[in-house]
Amino acid sequence: MASLMLLFSCSKTGEFFEDFDKYHDRVWVSRDFWSIPLEDWKISEGRVEASGDHPKRKLNLLANTLGGEGSFHAQVNLGSLNEAGPKGYAGFAFGLKDDTDNDMRSVCYFGKGTLAGIRADGQIFIGEKSVTLPESFVYSDLTLNLTVYRYEGSSKVLLECSDLSGNEAIVEVDGLSDTEGMIALECTGDYWFDDFRLKGNMVRPGSAFGPILFTMYTLSRGTMKLTAQMPPLGEDDNREVELQLLRGRKYEYAGKATMMPDARIASFRIDDWDATEDVHFRVVYSETYRNGSPEEYIYEGLIRKEPEKEELVVGGLTCQYHYGFPYTPLRESLKEMDPDLLYFSGDQLYEANGGYGIIRYPADRAILNYLGKWYMFGWAFSKLMDDRPTICIHDDHEVFQGNLWGDGGKLLTQEQWNGKRDCLAGFVQPVEMVNVVMKTNSSHLPDPYDPTPMENDIQVYFTDLVYGGVSFAIVGDRVFKSGPEQVATWEGRLDHLKELLKDPSLLDKPGLTFLGDRQMEFLDWWVRDWKGASMKVLLSQTIFTYSSTHSGNDSSYLEGDLDSGGWPKQGRDEALRLMRKAFAYHICGDQHLPSLIQYGIDDFRDAGWVFCTPAIAVGYQRYFLPDRLGWPVNDRPTHGYPNTGQYRDGFGNFNYIYAVGNPDVINRHRNRYTQADLKSSGYGIIRFNLDSRDITAEAYRFLSKKGEGEYLQFPGWPHTVNQLDNYGREPLAYLPTLEIHGIADPVIEIINESTGNLEYILRIKGNSFKPKVFSLDPHSIRIGDPENDQWKTIEVKTPISLAGSTEASKIIVEF
Ligand SMILES: [Fe+2]
Repeated sequence: MASLMLLFSCSKTGEFFEDFDKYHDRVWVSRDFWSIPLEDWKISEGRVEASGDHPKRKLNLLANTLGGEGSFHAQVNLGSLNEAGPKGYAGFAFGLKDDTDNDMRSVCYFGKGTLAGIRADGQIFIGEKSVTLPESFVYSDLTLNLTVYRYEGSSKVLLECSDLSGNEAIVEVDGLSDTEGMIALECTGDYWFDDFRLKGNMVRPGSAFGPILFTMYTLSRGTMKLTAQMPPLGEDDNREVELQLLRGRKYEYAGKATMMPDARIASFRIDDWDATEDVHFRVVYSETYRNGSPEEYIYEGLIRKEPEKEELVVGGLTCQYHYGFPYTPLRESLKEMDPDLLYFSGDQLYEANGGYGIIRYPADRAILNYLGKWYMFGWAFSKLMDDRPTICIHDDHEVFQGNLWGDGGKLLTQEQWNGKRDCLAGFVQPVEMVNVVMKTNSSHLPDPYDPTPMENDIQVYFTDLVYGGVSFAIVGDRVFKSGPEQVATWEGRLDHLKELLKDPSLLDKPGLTFLGDRQMEFLDWWVRDWKGASMKVLLSQTIFTYSSTHSGNDSSYLEGDLDSGGWPKQGRDEALRLMRKAFAYHICGDQHLPSLIQYGIDDFRDAGWVFCTPAIAVGYQRYFLPDRLGWPVNDRPTHGYPNTGQYRDGFGNFNYIYAVGNPDVINRHRNRYTQADLKSSGYGIIRFNLDSRDITAEAYRFLSKKGEGEYLQFPGWPHTVNQLDNYGREPLAYLPTLEIHGIADPVIEIINESTGNLEYILRIKGNSFKPKVFSLDPHSIRIGDPENDQWKTIEVKTPISLAGSTEASKIIVEF
């Protein structure tokens, strides 16, 4: 059989026993177990209880698994908690395996095996076979004994039960083949369990998860911020978490943090961080048991030294629909590429993740429900995040909304939301839960540019991060955005533009918000700030255009989706005008359709490039199929791939589609990873070359690995553009060529003196630059070194018209 992957640590072979007596009352059971759904399990007075909102509940044992030949014996005490009498069933699920991936995380959520237990209808059962229990059987307190003998791949299984009154029953099955794998306690209805014992020579060492579940960190401008994600601990559990750094050969104390009661994170911040060295860290949590005895747990990671190499490699990741969990082939090839920085652009979870539903309120239950799904993300990616910086921002599904127009923090009632599902502006979830989503995703980002909360006290994270010579602006493109109800005059879904409007200006009326004034103000500051940076990148959730034609399982046609960043157009155009002033490249996700596009504002190809990275595991499917629709082909790239070239979307946006990763077929495949691959899942790698100033986008398939060092990409990738291509607008004239002496790679700022506007600003490579301009107005050129605040300004009365003199004209600037 395929061996179960060992994670993190092992417990001893041969025997497991847990009476739950040492733990304080709490939701999280222990590192030896993984409960699904998280919120339906708890420790209460020395036993574990399963009850709550969901129909089915499973407590996976992580500490040990079952394998080989011989025998094992499992025992547990349990009883019904339903006052009106027992409901459903309770017992063991054993021999749990997953066809796609026998990684433990996978088996916890997707494992299939045999159920053996008691049913409320008076039966004791193993799989399909059942025997009637004595009539007076007492469900409130009983013992189950499961014995499995396995020889030459076939097992004999016995299940015995006895209640407090001495009633007994037994059921037996012979010839069962699948008894290796994981074991869990499982029930429908409400039950308690206690004194869980497992022994025999089939019992194998397993692993653990927690109490420190995972960490995320960033390093920017000498400040290191790290969050440690903790599970829902109890009132009486220790809440203090310690950070230690390896100095020489010894780990030294570097700070203490108290776990936030709602988000269950411990946040650390260290200023004056020396970024020139690798620093190993450990997060230490001391669990104090009910009897007072402490036990120390350690989670280790590495704060990498800030890269000083020629190329900064960013991993672009988005959208984790759980059928691809824990995304093993993708994680493994990503790890091999060893990106310097990870960017998770949103939809780190979907409402259905974990295989159970969402809880909208009350807030504390909604938070636990969110955390159970969020922990899956961390469990999958912790080994990538614990030794490199991670930028993580949430999108709509984390706040349990299929689409989101936050409108600056507006709230929706449940009734309003039900009436026009996912089509109205506002947050439907309790503010406490929305803020937990923000904190768990983004607390480790550099401090927000302006931390003032939005309306209704919804917190913000928009900020910048400078790392390895690249300056990133991190914005939320949905939280300030206006809702479709402001413009939609049609029947049906307000966010779906099914046909072009006779008067398209109706979609673009004044007063609509895209990124919002506060984020635009921030971007206006950011485009001018080049300290420590040679290149600029905007990070947001979605693409600032509409670049699909068909969507959904029925592949229905849409002219435009108001959920995309193509709307509202005026705000979108303003954002792009600002971004191109800094020659900013855009990395985003959300769309589930890998796309590499050059934006247009007033015409095709006059703005920057955007890479919408593949989804980690695509749920909702999108396609861009202009060829199928018979649209005229213009400016198709030389690679000649179908469905590429110049197209306008339903909002009037100009798109130069350089590459698109349409799925081949609509398909369902038994193997979850093959299905992910068929649905165009994968990830992006973006390489910023600080020397050539080239930016290379690579789009890898979910099953990308073809051999040693060989990885399969979507057609059209990789593709390289230059930093300068991010201001695609054609010049009308040039200013004299600048030759700068005395400072290396200066920053150059071009200002139109007639309008007073900043035309653009960038850090050039080398000492020579010929500035393009878009009018014959007088211009001033500001040249300098932002690190030392040395600047010189040059006035140019008359730019050199393209139509006019071609004579070389040069200005030498000495510092
Ligand atoms: Fe998504």
